[in-house]
Amino acid sequence: MRKKIVAGNWKMNKDLAEGLKLASEIVNMVKDEVTKDVTVIITPPFIHLTSVSRLLAENNQVLVAAQNCSEKESGAFTGEVSAAMLRSIPVQAVILGHSERRQYFGEGDELLAKKVDMALGSDLMPIFCCGEPLEIREKETHAAYVSRQLKASLFHLSEDEFAKVVIAYEPIWAIGTGKTASPEQAQQMHLHIRNVIADQYGKEVASNTTILYGGSCNPHNAQELFALDDVDGGLIGGASLKSRDFLDIIKSF
Ligand code: PGA
Repeated sequence: MRKKIVAGNWKMNKDLAEGLKLASEIVNMVKDEVTKDVTVIITPPFIHLTSVSRLLAENNQVLVAAQNCSEKESGAFTGEVSAAMLRSIPVQAVILGHSERRQYFGEGDELLAKKVDMALGSDLMPIFCCGEPLEIREKETHAAYVSRQLKASLFHLSEDEFAKVVIAYEPIWAIGTGKTASPEQAQQMHLHIRNVIADQYGKEVASNTTILYGGSCNPHNAQELFALDDVDGGLIGGASLKSRDFLDIIKSF
């Protein structure tokens, strides 16, 4: 059985006090309102990870993730944070290949493959993002585009390694725009992703892979999206910054 996951990506939002407040609201609400079969992940900025992870120490239903990690192991790389450092906090997961990293920081497939290796090498669960820009969707080449992203950054992994990866499909035209993929578009792409994984690693691995949807997911549309056969949860940006909205999304399962 694949895991159900709802992950909140805080991006570059919240100072320390605000972040701690949001994290403690989420933990308390999850304790009271969420069934144990859903894993909740929160992803604060690097600088809050230690404090937030201390706050969550006793809780194993809410995990802490980072938004990025270095492709290097250690050394003279000013401003970078390694996977091993994150693991030592301890952080349990890391978002890799978010379209904002690809678009604004020039992260490409090959670099992301190295980051995935670093994360797995430090026992961090990679939440690997893929998804097409609007012009690719309009040309109707989105399926091939996403296949290529997966192949280029993930398919060098062994079956055991790949089994530790969570995929997040985030069509770029839906991120922060208020324009969600329709249930048909989301299901079609999630099924496509699962088939591409099955071709590489076999049906069992594919059916055990958690595939999240991301892009303007909110308390009003989450239920319809999470009910789709191949959608196993969400990666939530804007709506994860308000504890009530985030909780209502989690409870959409
Ligand atoms: P959004 O962002 O929910 O604000 O659209 C999703 C994401 O970027 O992960």
